[in-house]
Amino acid sequence: MIFSPETYLWFKSFHIIGVVVWFAGLFYLVRLFIYHVEVQNEKEEIRDVFNKQYTLMEKRLANIITTPGMILAVIMASGLLYMQPVYLTQTWMQIKLLFVTFLLIYHFYCYKIMNELTNNQYNYSGQQLRALNELPTLLLVVVVMLVVFKNQFPTSAASWLIFGLILFMAASIQFYAKWRRNRKQFT
Ligand code: HEM
Repeated sequence: MIFSPETYLWFKSFHIIGVVVWFAGLFYLVRLFIYHVEVQNEKEEIRDVFNKQYTLMEKRLANIITTPGMILAVIMASGLLYMQPVYLTQTWMQIKLLFVTFLLIYHFYCYKIMNELTNNQYNYSGQQLRALNELPTLLLVVVVMLVVFKNQFPTSAASWLIFGLILFMAASIQFYAKWRRNRKQFT
């Protein structure tokens, strides 16, 4: 092996740093899309100012944070696999790669939405974008669990119960937020 075992830990550290930056960017980017879409209900002069500002913020966030985070995570992951190619033959890694592919599709889909918003030719409501914003959370949970549990992925009844409780709590927070938004609209 041309790399020392310590190099593996360097790759892993920067892989995790890349993943954190990537996700921070993805979460905030779609939040900005929601604000961008919802400002269209305002008066024209307000709308124009916010459109310009949101477009600038989205472009900077996507190009300076989100995509570099993704590139760092992927390059470091390649280093990890180069040093530990046996992982590629293991089921947990193959499933992880499938979910990472979904995440990459989501990443580039965000670019599509960003360009549509820039050209003011989009087709989404704030509500649809809020639903879309849940997707990376799910992918994050599954991918982190796969990499931690590997082939011992928990499938017992107790694990499903915990998983169900987490989903229930997440759904309750969403419903509460929606209820508050509706209440604000009608008061
Ligand atoms: C480009 C696709 C990816 C590949 C090829 C990949 C590959 C790897 C490999 C080989 C490891 C080292 C596993 C070990 O030594 O135990 C690792 C660790 C890790 N990966 Fe990824 N990964 C990718 C994307 C991601 C994504 C998108 C996430 C988060 C959603 C993620 C989260 C993690 C975490 C948290 C660890 C540390 C796990 C630990 O040390 O217990 N990876 N990854």
